[in-house]
Amino acid sequence: MEIIKDPCLFQRQCLGWRLQGLATALVPTMGFFHHGHLSLMDFARQNADRVAVSLFVNPTQFGPAEDLAAYPRDLDRDARLAAEHGADILFTPGPEAMYAPGHCTWIEVPDLARGLCGRTRPGHFRGVATVVAKLFMLALPGLAVFGEKDWQQLAIIRRMAKDLNMPVEVVGRPTVREPDGLAMSSRNAYLSPGQRLRAAAIHRGLVDLAVRAAGGETDPAVLLGGLRRYYAENLAEADIEYLEIVDPETLEPLDLIRGPALAAAALRLGPARLIDNISIGV
Ligand code: PAF
Repeated sequence: MEIIKDPCLFQRQCLGWRLQGLATALVPTMGFFHHGHLSLMDFARQNADRVAVSLFVNPTQFGPAEDLAAYPRDLDRDARLAAEHGADILFTPGPEAMYAPGHCTWIEVPDLARGLCGRTRPGHFRGVATVVAKLFMLALPGLAVFGEKDWQQLAIIRRMAKDLNMPVEVVGRPTVREPDGLAMSSRNAYLSPGQRLRAAAIHRGLVDLAVRAAGGETDPAVLLGGLRRYYAENLAEADIEYLEIVDPETLEPLDLIRGPALAAAALRLGPARLIDNISIGV
């Protein structure tokens, strides 16, 4: 596996693959790999001739009061894991290489970025969409792989790729979980051992909601009321940022579940902001 820092070199290498007729899969990441990232790399390896993994802690998707400086990093370990999971290139640019002085072009998908996480993280999805578009232009992938834990991010990237006719298939892969159900996330590293144990209630509450939906409850208000009570009883120390049931594609809140739906949660537990979701409905 080659480690490349320079965007022009990375683009030249990926263009070379494309000209040879080799299909490239891109796995965009911010590093500090866990099994969720590794499962995306494994999928990419199985579905493309060449695999490029990008590792870039993108400053433009962090708000001024967010954890950019504290975001966990371990390049040596990440490089070893990416190589073990079949990456041909690990692209690790610095911020000044990705955002040259004078950078002023942004991609926004406002209808999908307004709700859910967008409400408390203004500008976050503009940063995500812009950096992912830049990575697509550099890697020229036929396939790009993202985790479904960040469902809103995935919906926005899908919409962006469609609206801008980007010749890339955006694939979402299931959330990888710890044995107790907690969704894997680099930010789980912020939790104390006690918080970590109790954080499993986030997923258990969503499963409980999905069971009630499968049992015939179609009123989001009733389902979300139950979820709020579950968290009050099992995770009282967490601050709930949002609990919503939305259309999985448009992300619009639903007032009745008639078809596919997504229950999504964001909570603050100590220093960590944790999100999770579950598919419900038909
Ligand atoms: O999900 C992430 O790790 C990031 O938001 C992404 C897609 C790599 C863009 O910086």
